[in-house]
Amino acid sequence: MATLGIDIGGSGVKGAPIDTVRGELLAERYRVPTPQPSDVTSVVEAVAEVAGQFDDFDRVGITFPGVVVDGVTRTAANVDKSWLDAPAAKLFGERLGKPVTVLNDADAAGVAEVAFGAGRDQRGLIMMLTFGTGIGSALFLDGVLIPNTELGHLELDGKDAELRASDRAREVEEMSWEKWAGRVEAYLRHVEMLLSPRLFIIGGGVSKKSDRFFPLIDIRTPMVPATLLNNAGCIGAAVTAEQASGDLGAIQTNAATASR
Ligand code: BGC
Repeated sequence: MATLGIDIGGSGVKGAPIDTVRGELLAERYRVPTPQPSDVTSVVEAVAEVAGQFDDFDRVGITFPGVVVDGVTRTAANVDKSWLDAPAAKLFGERLGKPVTVLNDADAAGVAEVAFGAGRDQRGLIMMLTFGTGIGSALFLDGVLIPNTELGHLELDGKDAELRASDRAREVEEMSWEKWAGRVEAYLRHVEMLLSPRLFIIGGGVSKKSDRFFPLIDIRTPMVPATLLNNAGCIGAAVTAEQASGDLGAIQTNAATASR
């Protein structure tokens, strides 16, 4: 039976059954708008609506746009504050009647990119950054996820970096690509100074337009766009759910690649 991957984003809750060996969707994904306000009860119902479109799945992986430790959501920067310290895995599990794994959205996207996409077969320290409503980060050492890094909240020009350099900031402030790329470059330079990764994988919806801003960014670290785009969250969530065995502290994404 398949594993369902569900991605809770700023504008939509999307899900599909996933082939976790190939890193592909087994059916077209189903999407509902993210409820506003995005409180716990409403989002659990939205996830149930998405899951209700599919049958024949025996477990579910769900992404969340905040810190998730042992199935409990610890932060809620871009969602309703009712998610602070919510027992998310338990709530989703009870509603769906299946075992559920919950993890950070950028971590999930990174798991998918490292196993099947732009970070495949890369050793050393790799950093995935997603530029969307916020800035998400996922750090991998030799394919193993170090979860909940939250580097989108580093300080940039005296402010929370995601308020200056997320794709939403670009849209809200109607920035030119040049201006926004300047902020992204300052942010990436800060991250490379702190961590010296071997590779940046740039994800989020804006990565589809990488030709507009990659040439404007001058940093030392090689930088590539994500390849799985909108599906990375669902795929990474499903892979993680399948690998879950009680302890989600370290996720060996190489295992998924190696077993193919
Ligand atoms: C949250 C992160 C999340 C990122 C992208 C940030 O505001 O703190 O947990 O990964 O947005 O959604």
